[in-house]
Amino acid sequence: MKSYSLSENSSIPALGLGTWKSAQGEVCQAVRTALELGYRHIDCAPAYENEAEIGRALEEGLGAGLCTREELWVTSKLWNNAHGADRVGAALKATLNDLRLDYLDLYLIHWPVVFSRGVFFPRRGEDLIALSVTPIRETWAALEACRQQGLVRHIGVCNFSIKKLEELAQTAVTAPAVNQIELHPLLQQPGMLRYCRAKGIVLTAYSPLGSGDRPAGLKKPEEPSLLGHPVIGEIARKHQASPAQVLLSWGMARETVVIPKSVNPQRLKENLAAAELLLDQDDLARIGVLDQHHRLVDGSFWQAPGSPYTLANLWDEEWDRQWHEQRRGD
Ligand SMILES: NC(=O)c1ccc[n+]([C@@H]2O[C@H](COP(=O)([O-])OP(=O)(O)OC[C@H]3O[C@@H](n4cnc5c(N)ncnc54)[C@H](OP(=O)(O)O)[C@@H]3O)[C@@H](O)[C@H]2O)c1
Repeated sequence: MKSYSLSENSSIPALGLGTWKSAQGEVCQAVRTALELGYRHIDCAPAYENEAEIGRALEEGLGAGLCTREELWVTSKLWNNAHGADRVGAALKATLNDLRLDYLDLYLIHWPVVFSRGVFFPRRGEDLIALSVTPIRETWAALEACRQQGLVRHIGVCNFSIKKLEELAQTAVTAPAVNQIELHPLLQQPGMLRYCRAKGIVLTAYSPLGSGDRPAGLKKPEEPSLLGHPVIGEIARKHQASPAQVLLSWGMARETVVIPKSVNPQRLKENLAAAELLLDQDDLARIGVLDQHHRLVDGSFWQAPGSPYTLANLWDEEWDRQWHEQRRGD
C-alpha cells in the first residue's frame, strides 16, 4: 500500500476506511472485514457515534493477529463540543477508551466550529460559540499537550481554509500533519493542494465517492453524480475497473489520502483494490477538467439563526482566493 511520509519516521497509508454513517450493528463487522482484507487505516470520530463498536472490532482484529498495533493507523477527531483548553484531554480519553487503544496515530480538530458545552448538534444560534471566544490556538495547544503525553502521534485539522492554516501557523509549536477536507473530481481545490504541498501538510480526501448515503438534508435537488459521471465511467471501462476505483485512484495520483466508507464486503474489497489501479496522463487530464467547485458537505448546518458562523467565514474562499492572487508569479 502506498503511504505518505510524516514526521518521526512514520507514514500514513494512502487509503483508509471511512466510518461516518456506518451504523451500530454493522460497523463492527465492516471494520473486522476491512482488517481481514488488508485495510490498515481506519478513520473515526466520536461524532459518528460508533467508536465503541469500532473499538470492539479493533480489539478483536488485533487479538486475532490480523495485524499489529504498529501496522495499524487509527485517526479520530475532536468534536465541536470539546474545543477549549479544559475539554480536549477528557474528549481524547473518552475516544481512546471507546476505541480500546492506548494512543491514536492522528487526532484532528473535526471542524473550525465551536459548540456550547453539552451540545452534541446545534439547533439554535446560541448553541454555537464564536472562534473569537474559544480560539483555535487554545484548542491546538491542548492537542499539542496530548501529543507531548504520547496519547497521539500526530495532530491535524479538518475543514480548514488556507486563512485558518496561516493563522494557526502563527502560534503553533507543532504544525498540523494533515488537513482532512472534501476532495473529489467535482471539488478539486487546486489552490489548497498547492498550498499543502508547499507546507508539507498531507491532504486527506473525504467523501471521495460522493457520499451518496449522507442525510437527505445535506443533499440538493439535481446534484451531479460522481459515481455515475460519464467520463468516470468511460475511464473505468478502459481499465476494466469500477467508477469507485477510478475516483480513488485519481485521489491517490494527486498524493492525497482517500478514505472511502463502506460496510459492504464486496465494495470494501473493490475499494482497497483501487490502490493497484494506475491512471495515465490522459485519464488525469480528462478528470482534471470536471471541477465544478461543488461541495457535498457544505457546512450550512452550522448556520442556525444567530450563529456566528456563515459559509463565508467558514470556508474563507474570498480570502484564500486573494492569498493566491497576491502570490501569483512568486
Ligand atoms: N472530516 C470531516 O468533516 C468529514 C466529513 C465527511 C466525511 N468524512 C470521512 O470521510 C469518509 C468518507 O466520506 P463519506 O462517508 O461522506 O462518503 P463516501 O466514502 O464518498 O461514500 C460513501 C457511500 O458510497 C458507497 N460506496 C462505497 N464503496 C462503493 C463502491 N465501490 N461503489 C459504489 N458505492 C460505494 C457507500 O455505501 P456502502 O457502505 O453500502 O458500500 C456509501 O453510500 C467518512 O466516512 C468519514 O470517515 C470526514
